[in-house]
Amino acid sequence: MCGIVGVVGLAPAAPLLLDGLRRLEYRGYDSAGIATLVNGQIERRRAEGKLAQLAAALERLPLAGCTGIGHTRWATHGAPTETNAHPHGTARVAVVHNGIIENHLLLRAELEAKGQVFCSETDTETVAQLLDLLLAEGMSPVEAAKAAFGRLEGAYALALIFAGHPELIIGAQRGAPLAVGYGADEMYLGSDALALAPLTRQIAYLEDGDWVVVTREKAVFYNSESQEITREKKLTNLTGAAIGKGNFRHFMEKELHEHPVVIGDVLHRMIDATTRMPVLPALPFNLARVPRITFSACGSAYYAGLTGKFWLESLSRLPMDADVASEFRYRAPPLPEGGLGLLVSQSGETADTLAALRYMRAEGQKILTILNVPESTMARESDAMLETMAGPEIGVASTKAFTAQLTVMAVFALAVARARGSLADAEIARLCDALLEIPAKAAEILASEAQIRRLAPRIAEAADVLYLGRGACFPIALEGALKLKETSYIHAEGYAAGELKHGPIALIDKSVPVIAICPSGPLFEKTASNLQEVAARGGQVIVFSDAAGAAKLQGIAAETLILPEIDPFAAPILYAIPVQMLAYHVAVMKGTDVDQPRNLAKSVTVE
Ligand code: F6R
Repeated sequence: MCGIVGVVGLAPAAPLLLDGLRRLEYRGYDSAGIATLVNGQIERRRAEGKLAQLAAALERLPLAGCTGIGHTRWATHGAPTETNAHPHGTARVAVVHNGIIENHLLLRAELEAKGQVFCSETDTETVAQLLDLLLAEGMSPVEAAKAAFGRLEGAYALALIFAGHPELIIGAQRGAPLAVGYGADEMYLGSDALALAPLTRQIAYLEDGDWVVVTREKAVFYNSESQEITREKKLTNLTGAAIGKGNFRHFMEKELHEHPVVIGDVLHRMIDATTRMPVLPALPFNLARVPRITFSACGSAYYAGLTGKFWLESLSRLPMDADVASEFRYRAPPLPEGGLGLLVSQSGETADTLAALRYMRAEGQKILTILNVPESTMARESDAMLETMAGPEIGVASTKAFTAQLTVMAVFALAVARARGSLADAEIARLCDALLEIPAKAAEILASEAQIRRLAPRIAEAADVLYLGRGACFPIALEGALKLKETSYIHAEGYAAGELKHGPIALIDKSVPVIAICPSGPLFEKTASNLQEVAARGGQVIVFSDAAGAAKLQGIAAETLILPEIDPFAAPILYAIPVQMLAYHVAVMKGTDVDQPRNLAKSVTVE
């Protein structure tokens, strides 16, 4: 779950590699490093911690050379120290790797028995040592790479440079993405097109099992049988512009403030302004005939789908199974003939979600994805895609991508209801109108940010926090708990409000804030009685509701956040905003690394 970049050209490689790594830092930020060829010899600079440490190391000790590889790491095997930082290598070869070499222990034992001396605890170093041995036995770089790839088990994207071969990089992809970029007199390798965007918009993606020999003039692709093949060159729409924070302190804050625009953009694209009917792109399957939807995703994206399930099943009567991808992929569920697989992902690269997608395809499902990165692996493997178009999300904790996913899911549910004739057009138009009110109301919430900030001290001092919700707002409670955990490191759990008395109520005492996501609507009274149960046990009830709901809960709420009135259908999208914003302010108060919380990475490309 790391980022890889490579360049073979005529200009100094180190600044280009560092810039590429900056754009890949979302893939991990435990340590970073680069290696270049200086007069044919491999030289490395590596540093523990954020990329800024590597940049400082390069300032102290600059690195020449026009061919090189770089890496930003999210540790899997071995602590995030400088010794374990990539590139790994020997005097003959340097390697950067994203993924996990599953047979590394076996290979390590075999290589050590043959006299190879390891310097790190990483699985990646086995690749370097294996190549080193093969080169020492007299193989050329291409022969050694081909032989080594045949020995590796697991998932990887790799980039290799070789001493004495100043214009050569070899790359390989199996289960982790890799792209080749075409420049003028320069060629590049990168984990994604975003890393290469400042350098080129001409990209060719490797397919699974491919490997590629990149020189300054060209890239020669081979498939898993090592037959030479062509991979289509495409023009990406990504811009190389630096992504800045503007006047905000953190990317998370900036991205929270983008909610109204992002939600508005989705609605503008997906609801016809005149008819107020949902509009989907042409789909290669008939929504009226699909017998069942099978949905899978991870983390916040999974919660967006859970709310979608509530909408879809209740509005269109189409059954939808939902499971987190890490479980789904190994559950081997039978899937119906003619069924639709639905995957939701910001990055489009999450390893478990991708595996779920592939399982669904193998089971004969058509694949529909809801994605924020239209150039991602999942996009390339879908039959159809609904784009969230939330723009780059840099804060590791998802914010605007989540509300964009919810908004797409809401319109999709209405489109399915329309296709299946389960709702009258007038009702669909009414619900579209309810969605169209969200951007203005989201802006109102942002304008009253101080009201949300005022709740932060109470949460910041708690050791445990519970979030409660019902129906389509239950996943918003899950989202609240997840966001608080990841940004503030405070233990938090989300529960279906009705489930509380089946166990979690034992946790309630006066030190536990209980945040209730309870907009007015058909389930309000039910949640209200659960909150009575909390208050009766001394719990601190913090109510997120509209004025009418808050008035009814006045006697039991320790704190109330009054939100704009909204139709219950649209409420989950609107209520996600203060829930995320509260987590942000608590994190700021606690002084955590808001945009890059410890131990996390933006794109989880290992299982
Ligand atoms: C939480 C968060 C993660 C992601 C999850 C899936 O704030 O960001 O839980 O939602 O890792 O990532 P994607 O959407 O890229 O598949």
